[in-house]
Amino acid sequence: MAPMLAALALLALISVSEQGPHEKRLLNSLLNSYNTLERPVANESEPLEVKFGLTLQQIIDVDEKNQLLITNIWLSLEWNDYNLRWNDSDYGGVKDLRITPNKLWKPDVLMYNSADEGFDGTYQTNVVVRNNGSCLYVPPGIFKSTCKIDITWFPFDDQHCDMKFGSWTYDGNQLDLVLKDEAGGDLSDFITNGEWYLIGMPGKKNTITYACCPEPYVDVTFTIMIRRRTLYYFFNLIVPCVLISSMALLGFTLPPDSGEKLTLGTYFNCIMFMVASSVVLTVVVLNYHHRTADIHEMPQWIKTVFLQWLPWILRMSRPGKKITRKTIMMSNRMRELELKERSSKSLLANVLDIDDDFRHVPPPPNSTASTGNLGPGTDFRRSFVRPSTMEDVGGGLGSHHRELHLILRELQFITARMKKADEEAELISDWKFAAMVVDRFCLFVFTLFTIIATVAVLLSAPHIIVQ
Ligand SMILES: *[C@@H]1O[C@H](CO)[C@@H](O)[C@H](O)[C@H]1NC(C)=O
Ligand SMILES: *[C@@H]1O[C@H](CO)[C@@H](O)[C@H](O)[C@H]1NC(C)=O
Ligand SMILES: *[C@@H]1O[C@H](CO)[C@@H](O)[C@H](O)[C@H]1NC(C)=O
Ligand SMILES: *[C@@H]1O[C@H](CO)[C@@H](O)[C@H](O)[C@H]1NC(C)=O
Repeated sequence: MAPMLAALALLALISVSEQGPHEKRLLNSLLNSYNTLERPVANESEPLEVKFGLTLQQIIDVDEKNQLLITNIWLSLEWNDYNLRWNDSDYGGVKDLRITPNKLWKPDVLMYNSADEGFDGTYQTNVVVRNNGSCLYVPPGIFKSTCKIDITWFPFDDQHCDMKFGSWTYDGNQLDLVLKDEAGGDLSDFITNGEWYLIGMPGKKNTITYACCPEPYVDVTFTIMIRRRTLYYFFNLIVPCVLISSMALLGFTLPPDSGEKLTLGTYFNCIMFMVASSVVLTVVVLNYHHRTADIHEMPQWIKTVFLQWLPWILRMSRPGKKITRKTIMMSNRMRELELKERSSKSLLANVLDIDDDFRHVPPPPNSTASTGNLGPGTDFRRSFVRPSTMEDVGGGLGSHHRELHLILRELQFITARMKKADEEAELISDWKFAAMVVDRFCLFVFTLFTIIATVAVLLSAPHIIVQ
C-alpha cells in the first residue's frame, strides 16, 4: 500500500510541477516574438472584429448642475488574436492564460464623451487568452461622462445619457466594433438607485463615413435612460403646494370678523401669484366690510354690481331680500320713482296741507272757514285743527296753529333722525353684503383657477408617478 501511495504522490507532484514549466514555455514561445503594436490579423486587408459589451453596475450620481453622469461600469471586449494560438496537447493541456494587457495588443477603445480627469477611468485587468486565440478583456471602471440634462419637466423628467465608445486610432477597415448583445447593456447586476429609475440601456452601432476620407468610422453608443422618482418630490414639493393653494381658498370662507383671513398666506412659485392676489382681494373685502355711512357713500355701480347682479349670478340671498332678475328690475324702477318723490312734499305736510319749508311761517288760515262747517269725521284735516274749547275758537286759534307747527317740526326732526339711522344701518349692511359677495366671487374664481391650473400642470407632464 505504502509504495503505491508514494508513487501516486510522486506522480501528482510531477504533474503539478509539469504545469509550471509548460506555462512558462508556452508564455516564452508566445511572447518572445510578440509585438504589442502589431494588429493581430491573418490577412492585413481584413478588419479585426471586436465584440463590445457593457455591464451597468450602478448609477453613482447624476450631476444636473455640471451635466455629468457618474456610473460604475464593466466593459467587455472580445477579439481573436491570431498570434496567441497554441495546441494545448503540446503544452501539457494548458488551455488558457491570464496576461497583463500591456504585454499584448489590445484595442484602444475609449469613451469619447468622458469628463474624467484621467480620461480613461478603467482599471487594467488581465486578459484571458484561450488556446484558440480568443481574448477576453473586462476592465471595470468609474466613468464620468458628459450628459445633456434637460430639466424642463422637473420633477417629472426623463434623462437620456449617451456613452459613445470607439477606437481612438483605428478606422472601421482595421477594427470593427460589434455589439456583443443587440439588446444593449447588461443590467442584470444593476443596483437600483434611490433617486432614479432605470428604464433601459439600449446600444447602437454607428458607422459614419466622412466626406474627407473614404474609410468608415465605427462607434458603439449606449444610452442610459433614467426617469426621476417623483415620490420624494411629490411629498416634498407638490403636496405642500396644493395644500397651500387650498388654504388660500379656504381663506375666503372665513368670516371677516375672525381676523385670521390675512394671516393665511404662504408663498410658492406659481401659487405665489395666487396667494398674493388673494391677499389683495382679502384686503378689499375687509375694507368693504368695515365701511360706515358717515365716511363712505356707496356708488351706484357698486350697488348694481355687488348687490344685484353678482349675487344673482352666484345665487346668493339676503334675509328678507330675494334677488332675482325681477327684483333687480323692480328695485331699479323703485329708485327712479323715489327720486321723483323726493322732489314732492312729505306725507305729513301733505296731510296738513302746509309747506314743508319752515323758513317762512304761513299766513293764518281763514278762521271763519275753519270754524264754520265743523263736524267730526267730515274732514280729517279740519278735525285735526279743531280747537278744544269753544272759547279758543275766536282769538286762540292762531297760537294753536303755531304750536302744531312746532310739534310737526319736532316730529319731522325725530323721523329724520330715525330715517337717517335706518339708512346708515342699511348702508353698513349693504357694504357687508358687498364684502361677502366679493368673498364668494373670489372663492369661485380661485377654486376654478386652482383646479384648472393643478389639473393642467399635472396632466401636461409626460408621466406623474414612477415607483
Ligand atoms: C486578404 O483578404 C482580401 C479581401 O478579403 C482578399 O482579397 C485576399 O485574397 C486575402 N489575402 C490572403 C493572403 O488571404
Ligand atoms: C495538436 O497536437 C497533437 C499532437 O502533437 C496533434 O495530434 C493534434 O492534431 C494537434 N491539434 C491541432 C488542432 O493542431
Ligand atoms: C475559442 O474557445 C472558446 C472556448 O473553448 C470558445 O467559446 C470560442 O468560441 C472559441 N473561439 C474561436 C474563435 O474559435
Ligand atoms: C274768509 O273767507 C271768506 C270766504 O272764503 C271770505 O269772504 C272772508 O273775507 C275771509 N276772511 C278773512 C279774514 O280773510
